[in-house]
Amino acid sequence: VSSGRSSQSRTRDLDQSSAEAESFAGLLPPRFVVGVATSAFQIEGAVHEGGRELSVWDDFTAQPGRILGGANADVAADHYGRLSEDVALMADLGIDSYRFSFGWPRLQPRGSGSLNREGVAFYDRLLDELLAAGISPMATLFHWDTPVELRGSWLNRDTAHRFGDYAYEVGEVFGDRIANWVTINEPATVMLNGYALGIHAPGTTLLFDAVAAGHNQLLGHGLAVQALRAAGVSGGIGISNVYSPVQPVTSSDDDVAFAGLFDVLHNHMFGDAVLRGTYPVVADEFARLLRPLVEADEADLAIIHQPLDFYGVNYYFPTRIASGPGGVGSPDGDASAMTSLPFHLGAWPEFESTGFRWPNAPEFLAVALAELAERYGDTLPPVFITEGGMSSRDAVVLDARTGVAQIADHARIDYLSNHIASALAATSVGGSAEGVELRGYYVWSLLDNFEWAAGFSQRFGLVHVDFTTLDRTPKSSFGWLRSVLESRL
Ligand code: NOJ
Repeated sequence: VSSGRSSQSRTRDLDQSSAEAESFAGLLPPRFVVGVATSAFQIEGAVHEGGRELSVWDDFTAQPGRILGGANADVAADHYGRLSEDVALMADLGIDSYRFSFGWPRLQPRGSGSLNREGVAFYDRLLDELLAAGISPMATLFHWDTPVELRGSWLNRDTAHRFGDYAYEVGEVFGDRIANWVTINEPATVMLNGYALGIHAPGTTLLFDAVAAGHNQLLGHGLAVQALRAAGVSGGIGISNVYSPVQPVTSSDDDVAFAGLFDVLHNHMFGDAVLRGTYPVVADEFARLLRPLVEADEADLAIIHQPLDFYGVNYYFPTRIASGPGGVGSPDGDASAMTSLPFHLGAWPEFESTGFRWPNAPEFLAVALAELAERYGDTLPPVFITEGGMSSRDAVVLDARTGVAQIADHARIDYLSNHIASALAATSVGGSAEGVELRGYYVWSLLDNFEWAAGFSQRFGLVHVDFTTLDRTPKSSFGWLRSVLESRL
């Protein structure tokens, strides 16, 4: 903590940023939903309270060397204990919608059977407080916290059926209060980071054999959609797939081929299965590696291919791929398994990077939407950007005169305004993604939180969390977004 700038320059900053907020607000179309997103494991803490049992992430964080700084999420941001304070922050921010996830091991501790009453009571309270504050809930059923009791986790096909049953139970209890349901968050990341590279739980390094964990999650998605419909939920149903436009580093045949392979594994296998009921065609040279895609059961694909009310896209950055082992590590963790892959990630020297060294490239959100529009055409449901945001150091500075703590995260304001503007321009008449019905954007994240393998080293929040005192302090980006929302027509 160091002392701040003069109050005079701060007043100027505030005036300037409220003028900027007002002009940005003018870009937002009527009914465009602005929200914030979080997930249970990353914010709740209280992992041993309220009848919760352990998830694969509790196990993983307990293993030495898995998480930067040896961190775990036992306390995280203590949202479990500070729920009302966090809803009050959202009410003050003035957002339209809050995307959160139900903790599977909190609601259904062993991954099967009836729901845990204390878990239900916690989310009941959350939903009541949100609705009382006029905030529309978007709920994710699975954001990576698979109950440990489900042996084999997503490598076991039975987990898909357990997930369908869980979806039915949750749908029955909360089905009248959720505006939109997300079945699974980023199944691609779970498959790649969790099963292929061992950066995330459960930490296996199966490389291409991890594809089975992708297929089983997709099957779980389809079964969950069927279950939510059978439970008669009133809200819309979709999925959140991460999407990263992929480029080869050079136009060499090998770079192009491996970029295509990565595009299949990261983007198209998830989009195509859900939206078209097929898996992408795999180049002959890779067919042997990707048997579960090539030989996929038609009956499974029919289950996966359910009509959806919306399609959730998580966009953070574009990807460059070069052939040959690289061993540079993935953007969000150092994976020694990466060195066994026949390709590696290329750099983006033309863009500034965020805290994670991810390229800050808003124009590629437009590219992502244009690629989705082109690939899926009329079969693409209305889209929500269900996540976008950046991490940064976000130091707390005390104002010399007033002693008030400030976090001047101007880079985050630029990141968010540029990304939202890029998406809106792309989807407007004459834009590259014209035809995509863009319904809204959810900022990742409301709070600084447990950032998986990176522990607490990457701060994504609009609100700063001191992980010792658990105090919340809104950052400048929070003030900017509040002004934007206030000045909407
Ligand atoms: C996507 C994931 O859904 C979320 O859990 C994570 O914190 C953000 N990306 C940032 O890495």
